[in-house]
Amino acid sequence: MAYKAPRGTVDILPAQSGKWQELEQLLRTICANYNVKGIRTPIFEHTELFNRAVGDTTDVVSKEMYTFEDRKGRSMTLRPEGTAGIARAYVENKLYGMPEKLQKVYYMGPMFRYERPQNGRQRQFHQFGVEMLGVESPYVDVECMLMAVTVVKALGLKNIQLHINTLGDQESRDAYREALQNHFQPVLNELCHDCQVRYEKNPLRILDCKVDKNHPMMKTAPKTIDYLTDNAKAHFEKVCALLDDLEIDYVVDPNLVRGLDYYSHTVFEIISDDPKLGAGSTVGGGGRYNGLVEELGGPQTPGVGFAFGMERLMIALGDDHEDEEGLDVYIMPLGSEAKDLAMQIMTMLRANGFTCDMDQCDRGLKGQFKSADRFHAHFSMIIGDEEVQKEVVNMKCNHTKEQVEVPLENIVEFIENHYEGDHDHE
Ligand code: HAM
Repeated sequence: MAYKAPRGTVDILPAQSGKWQELEQLLRTICANYNVKGIRTPIFEHTELFNRAVGDTTDVVSKEMYTFEDRKGRSMTLRPEGTAGIARAYVENKLYGMPEKLQKVYYMGPMFRYERPQNGRQRQFHQFGVEMLGVESPYVDVECMLMAVTVVKALGLKNIQLHINTLGDQESRDAYREALQNHFQPVLNELCHDCQVRYEKNPLRILDCKVDKNHPMMKTAPKTIDYLTDNAKAHFEKVCALLDDLEIDYVVDPNLVRGLDYYSHTVFEIISDDPKLGAGSTVGGGGRYNGLVEELGGPQTPGVGFAFGMERLMIALGDDHEDEEGLDVYIMPLGSEAKDLAMQIMTMLRANGFTCDMDQCDRGLKGQFKSADRFHAHFSMIIGDEEVQKEVVNMKCNHTKEQVEVPLENIVEFIENHYEGDHDHE
């Protein structure tokens, strides 16, 4: 039987891992720049956490979760997103008691959603996400948006737009909920079964229904912005004013509601028309979630964050990136004694901090030179019987094509002296 990876999952092979590491490095550099620290939470959590945090009328929870019973019959779920787990960890580890009131964390890792796979959409995918917990302030919303914009700019993504909207505070959302119910009530029987349930439980979710998305009443649905309390309005106006001051382009998109229940106040998405991703693709999104921590049993704690799909960022990064750095030395032994010596030298060179490898396939020179080429080795070190006898090696610089005999005890010194100044091998 030939095994295949499950539908919607992919293997990241050695040839692509360099580009992944490049992306991860770039994101880590931006996090350091923004003073955001790493956090790693479990890949599976109690199912109840997601039901509570993400909301059981959302598509993510009701249709897309990978849920299973563990051996003791407890319901567990592979995380479909990162925010719920972070909020849980924040409460459980009492991060609200830390001296720094604003806790800024980031994560990168696999998430799982049972969705129809297509370009940039998988069942196991990766997110890079950032959460900022502890401070209720439009300045922090804007810091999050700035960071998200910095990411896409650093990747060189073209034609990006920052879409923003506000859902307001609890009072605004209650008023809006009622407005939505009044709006859809006359056509309730024309909506799908799910929407009829949503109408009762969570009418906001009707707006992101994939089945009813072309129903004429969708277009005329009330907008959140018209139901804001003065406080909620002031928060949003400050967000917009700060973005204006910082000269960050944005579009106020009154239809943006996001597909997860924990949001309040500001929500945003980064949409790209870059041809590599396809017009109108959402690369990332986020928003404020002031009720989430309390919902999970913690003290009232505001939060705001965002996440990007890393596969989408990878597509954005394109293929024209530098290969990983080449090896310092590729050792090419000819014969068994040479191989013993090669092993010794390789171990010594690695211990000295050089990147180094050797032929393990007993090939002739030609095959070994091909490997040296493929690994972009700076030096090829040739060791034959004669070299073993003379206690030397033959060092060929693959850039200058110069070949020199070097006594065993001088190898490190030779490499250091002959290295081109621009190559950092420490
Ligand atoms: P989300 O909009 O559900 O938000 O997901 C964020 C991003 O993850 C999406 O914009 C997309 O790029 C990527 N993504 C989602 N599903 C898939 C998939 N099946 N395949 C590939 N990529 C996908 C959240 O998850 C929130 N936790 C974001 C957040 C953080 N809000 C506040 N803090």
